[in-house]
Amino acid sequence: MELTGFIHQSISYMSSWALRFVAELGIANHIKAYGGPMPLHELARSIPIPPEKDLTLESLMGLLVHQRVFAKCEGGYLLTPISEIMLNEGSNMGAYVRFATELSPEQLLFTSKWFKETSKSTVFQLAHNGKQAWEVMKEKPELGNLANEAMSSHSKEFVRILVARYPEIFERINNLVDVGGGTGSTVKIIADSFPDLRCTVLDLPHVIDNALNNDSISVVGGDMFDKIPPGDAILLKTVLHDWSDEDCVRILKKCKEAIDSTINNGKVIVVEMVLDAETDDSKETETKLIYNLCLLFFLGSKERTKKQWHDLILCAGYSDYKIYPARMPLYSVFELYP
Ligand SMILES: C[S@@+](CC[C@H](N)C(=O)[O-])C[C@H]1O[C@@H](n2cnc3c(N)ncnc32)[C@H](O)[C@@H]1O
Repeated sequence: MELTGFIHQSISYMSSWALRFVAELGIANHIKAYGGPMPLHELARSIPIPPEKDLTLESLMGLLVHQRVFAKCEGGYLLTPISEIMLNEGSNMGAYVRFATELSPEQLLFTSKWFKETSKSTVFQLAHNGKQAWEVMKEKPELGNLANEAMSSHSKEFVRILVARYPEIFERINNLVDVGGGTGSTVKIIADSFPDLRCTVLDLPHVIDNALNNDSISVVGGDMFDKIPPGDAILLKTVLHDWSDEDCVRILKKCKEAIDSTINNGKVIVVEMVLDAETDDSKETETKLIYNLCLLFFLGSKERTKKQWHDLILCAGYSDYKIYPARMPLYSVFELYP
């Protein structure tokens, strides 16, 4: 069993790539369009691939059925809740798996070298002549656009669940500012669900260039370390995990300053992972631990425990905070009160 475990872990990268092939070949879309159990040859011809590749496609589908990405019955292949994620309206989770697989291999080859060095740079910097991830993404717009698409697709999936489960977070506020809000996909879903809410997205100017801009959403290109537009609620969704403790305290202080002091229900909403979440589910815990390593290697940042979040929030001068109790996929929701 130990040998099986060792070999499984050595070749598991193929699981990430198998999901990527699903996205690139549009397999979930073809099965959906077929409208019922789809036989292998129908799937192969609709992708389309030449008949001599049918057996390899069957093996790929065999792994994906085993992993519950698809199901199989006598008539053929069916979607499951995992493959359906790729088909949600307006979502592009294919971009998420493309970004995840594209970003890793070339930098991870540098990791053992990085461990032995005393330098403060990240694995990513070692692989890119000292350049940070954000700089490389700015220089390579195709990678930057893929990163934005990946983050915004994940955001859409998460925020749909968030507004349905916790509408009260957004119900009694008039003016929401999404700091580091990317191209605005998070606030678009929130604005659609709460039409009276005025929303602003703040992000770096080159990101904001590709952002949504409509009547209910204003976009501001700027630097959150410098100035955050005023609001009665400030949203920080998966932003703080990119930064050191010192930088997080600076960002949280700037958010506190941006809250309209004339209202009494001002707050900062933080969406982040909590590494030692009380309800443990082994896949969830493993995913968080892997995510934490991605951040450490690529950005030199990290996910945090409940105690670390507590210390940061108090250090930034907030009087109180709460963590919403129900489980959300991977992420927890905090409200911070000035
Ligand atoms: C991990 S992404 C999260 C994006 C978005 N909140 C989401 O959940 O999809 C971090 C975001 O912070 C933005 N960012 C980085 N540095 C920033 C700065 N100094 N000021 C404003 N935004 C910044 C990045 O451009 C990126 O869009």
